[in-house]
Amino acid sequence: MTANGVVLAIDQGTTNTKALLVDARGEILRQASTPNTVSYPQPGWAEQSATALVEGVLAVIAEAAAGATEDIVAVAISNQRESIVVWDAETGEPIGPCIIWQCRRSAPACEKLRADGHGKTIERKTGLALDPLFPAAKIAWLLDNVEGARERADAGRLRAGTVDSWLLWTLTGGKVHATDHSNASRTQLFDTAALRWDEELARLFDVPLSLLPEIRPSNAEFGRIAASIGALPPGIPIHAMIGDSHAALYGHGVRGPGTVKATYGTGTSLMALTRERVLSHHGISSTIAWSTADGPAYALEGNISVSGQAAAFMADMLGLEDAAALSALARSVPDSNGVAFVPALVGLGAPHWRADARGLVTGLTLGTRPAHLARAALEAIAFQVADVFSAMEQDIGIPFAELRADGGASRNGFLMQFQADLIGRPVETAAAAEVSALGAAALAFSGLGQEMQMAQAQHRFRPEIEDADRQSHLSRWRRAIAQTLTETA
Ligand code: G3P
Repeated sequence: MTANGVVLAIDQGTTNTKALLVDARGEILRQASTPNTVSYPQPGWAEQSATALVEGVLAVIAEAAAGATEDIVAVAISNQRESIVVWDAETGEPIGPCIIWQCRRSAPACEKLRADGHGKTIERKTGLALDPLFPAAKIAWLLDNVEGARERADAGRLRAGTVDSWLLWTLTGGKVHATDHSNASRTQLFDTAALRWDEELARLFDVPLSLLPEIRPSNAEFGRIAASIGALPPGIPIHAMIGDSHAALYGHGVRGPGTVKATYGTGTSLMALTRERVLSHHGISSTIAWSTADGPAYALEGNISVSGQAAAFMADMLGLEDAAALSALARSVPDSNGVAFVPALVGLGAPHWRADARGLVTGLTLGTRPAHLARAALEAIAFQVADVFSAMEQDIGIPFAELRADGGASRNGFLMQFQADLIGRPVETAAAAEVSALGAAALAFSGLGQEMQMAQAQHRFRPEIEDADRQSHLSRWRRAIAQTLTETA
């Protein structure tokens, strides 16, 4: 590799797609970003155009790479996880939308599997609760609801994959159909102990194994940029693929157990490495953080379905321009005046796993003002993280010393302080907002045999409230959660 070699890291998220040029000192030399559209065609459904996602990726890589004088030695992909695309290998066209992780259209199929007594088997093999968040039942939904799809699948024409796999296929000009262990471990078709696609799971979910990609280590060479991709010189290797939450853990420099991070995005994901594969007893997923030639690194993860999006949702409800305006309004009052907002807008993920739950606002009085609702929306982000933090500690059996934070909402000092107050431990925010992309870049450098420097923390928020106040906040939240769960029981 040349001395000034840089990695072009793609971070394909739900809300935005970004591309960053990163050097081996971990410096971001250039970056570009474009927003993505999410459609909600029916209550509980969520989808994106798979073609638009590719167009977005091509646009940001063209912008980030334009005029680059450095040698782009690899492309790295960090991606929204659990979102699924099924495409026709002959035409290269998706057969339907990218059904994203938040979509609940496969809830009836999951319910049927549970009613038929398969929940425990699925959980034991995959480490994941049986929930429509995960892609297996979504692939089957596409096969059953797109005319002729099952026939085309039987004829060997269709391919399925998470977003990494779809991007790899397009960036290599249809040459490579592969994924990495981190993304495979989120599909609910992958046995994370045996490290292979599982026939029994495929049969239960009615997904032909022949549709699924080959699995490689997260920092393997996955393929090369095709000549048809005008945005980049052809032949550059794609040298890392990893789910965005996992990439963030890597980007925090975490390489062993004992440290937990939270990525505050559309949803929030908390993740901590474990010494071995650990199955949770507290509503947390067991997953593969990443893999190298040395094998997989296992982790525990708690997925919160709606967190940053809760602020955006409430801003919209209150007629505010954006989450920044919501934050300013929230800070204009000293507390939420007893109001709690449970943003179960697509059900509840970890640690409750209730796909049927719906959002709830409690504690309204004549004294309630928009500012209290704004504050309750921000607090909800921190409350949900505190619940998962505590569930993970119970699984691991050792208290965490601190929480590492990244993602958009980690830039909100008010929220991070409240987070530290709630968990009673310091919260350390990452220096760069783009930790997932940096993690993917670091992984690609590692695949090329080079160590990338990891950034230092930006700020440390220490808990500032008394335990009695913490308990009072938590009991207001727990009452609201209990009410949400009862209402949907
Ligand atoms: O599990 C879904 C998660 O990977 C989505 O991440 O960044 O799009 O909110 P983000």
